Amino acid sequence: MQSKDFKRHRIDVVSGLSGIGLEIGFGSGLNLPYYKSITRLYGLDPSKELYEMAHKNLQAVTFPIEQILGSAEHIPLPENSLDFVVSTWTLCTIPHPDLALKEVFRVLKPGGKFCFIEHGKSPKTFIWRIQNLLTPISKCIAGGCHLNRDIEHLIRDAGFKIQNLEKFSQGPKPLGFMYKGVGIKSL
Ligand SMILES: C[S@@+](CC[C@H](N)C(=O)[O-])C[C@H]1O[C@@H](n2cnc3c(N)ncnc32)[C@H](O)[C@@H]1O
Repeated sequence: MQSKDFKRHRIDVVSGLSGIGLEIGFGSGLNLPYYKSITRLYGLDPSKELYEMAHKNLQAVTFPIEQILGSAEHIPLPENSLDFVVSTWTLCTIPHPDLALKEVFRVLKPGGKFCFIEHGKSPKTFIWRIQNLLTPISKCIAGGCHLNRDIEHLIRDAGFKIQNLEKFSQGPKPLGFMYKGVGIKSL
């Protein structure tokens, strides 16, 4: 997840952001080098191991950052408090992505941005069937990763208005159907 292609997507998703924000599925902080002008970041992830691994990446940042050990289904931040929320390849892994996205919607200010790159359901029926077959295996061997989630519908169902969305294949077809874009909390 540190290849040239992944790096390009990370830059696309976070480099234009400003204000106060949150990353769900913060992991080891691989997006940190690409934030350019934010005021403060919360990094939320349930993994203690990744929490420790992120420490090295935290040293290099110039903005205040607070790590939160927790799940996106219960974000311990007030409603209408954030300018942006970022998710990079995380909605595949969260056990209840619908609840997590409702929480993301709750904590964003009106007009706030949900900026994401995710992999999920292929529009090709044949590939989607393969994704359905492989998902029980990928859940076991890849930390709970679902290959077949309909990312666009999940985001729309949480109440977001999609401002822009790119959908494209990258890498092995069942693993790499990508959704990159921005959802707006417009009331
Ligand atoms: C494939 S990794 C992506 C990590 C990071 N976003 C990146 O781009 O490198 C998925 C991440 O989702 C996290 N995760 C799993 N369940 C979660 C939950 N309920 N809430 C928030 N994050 C979760 C994992 O711990 C892991 O860090």
